Amino acid sequence: MDFSDSLLDQEAQRLFIHLKKFEYTLEDCKKMAMTTLEIQYLKKKKNVLILAHSYQTPDISFGVADELGDSYGLSIAAKNTNADIILFSSVLFMGETAKIINPNKTVLVPSQAGCSLADSITAEDVRALRKKYPNAGVVAYVNTTAQVKAEVDACCTSSNAHKVVEAMEQEQVIFLPDRLMGENLKKHTTKEIILWDGVCIVHEEFSTADVTAVRKEFPKAEILAHPECDPSVLQKSDFVGSTEQMLHHLDESDSQEFMMITECGLTDRARQEHPEKQIVGTCFLCPYMKELTLKNILKALKNPSPNQIVKIPENIRVRAERSLHEMFALEKKYEKKFGSTNNKWKENFS
Ligand code: 13P
Ligand code: SF4
Repeated sequence: MDFSDSLLDQEAQRLFIHLKKFEYTLEDCKKMAMTTLEIQYLKKKKNVLILAHSYQTPDISFGVADELGDSYGLSIAAKNTNADIILFSSVLFMGETAKIINPNKTVLVPSQAGCSLADSITAEDVRALRKKYPNAGVVAYVNTTAQVKAEVDACCTSSNAHKVVEAMEQEQVIFLPDRLMGENLKKHTTKEIILWDGVCIVHEEFSTADVTAVRKEFPKAEILAHPECDPSVLQKSDFVGSTEQMLHHLDESDSQEFMMITECGLTDRARQEHPEKQIVGTCFLCPYMKELTLKNILKALKNPSPNQIVKIPENIRVRAERSLHEMFALEKKYEKKFGSTNNKWKENFS
């Protein structure tokens, strides 16, 4: 594709404005400009919506994405779009979720990146759990494959897990696959929670020593943590929520210093959106999320290979969709009774 020198120059300048705070040089932006212009051209021509999880790299998040968000917000965006094609710049399970709720749209996944949680459990494992605990309800975190979603009673995300579990009619609930999130849930419910031994390889890395070190150096910093972390880390933090809830808290808070206990992409997004606030401390990279690049996004838009187009057998898709619909129904049921603003993750820890 041919773009004039002045258009390429203009695009490089636009990228540089967004990316210079992430240490991209004007030279880096000039090298990227051809790719981002081509992505934008194809986006318009084919009526594509690019959804990107907040853990994506800044060139994707601020160079080509239409919407950034957490699993919950992005699945709503996928549900509401008029675009003909959804390109999901994230790990495979999120692209699958978009396809489950939008069977008539084309959903593209530039890389079929896994996730340590989604890869920890199969549909067969869920069937075995059901046999072992025949009276239990089964809730799956959205970080699961379509096949696993098809086997459970309801899905949940990190922003509504507590509401969904509380609204289940059963008193015994199998929560899978995130053991640490399940242990965190146990602190906020009287239900009997049965766990699966999956972990997020990013969030399990954080320890209370990371929190203590930041508290010592930056005593005024507010510490925000993701519920995929160990309960001991959440206990020492000031706020717990999904990535979008963490950002929302940062938006609303009067504090000037923050530590975000999660993947580095969210820290980058917070720095971009709040240059006036200081984000201190450590973060970790998710190797799966980092499989996404401008190059594989362009390839998927231009000429997708068969594995870049999400396909889910209809018998599985229909059952997985039921679990996702049940998530929204249970969330509503909970909110009708207790209100919508409750973020239970932090309660009982202090
Ligand atoms: P949320 O962005 O939905 O909080 O999830 C975090 C995550 O690890 C997704 O892979
Ligand atoms: Fe999976 Fe953790 Fe990476 Fe999210 S951050 S995609 S939960 S491994």
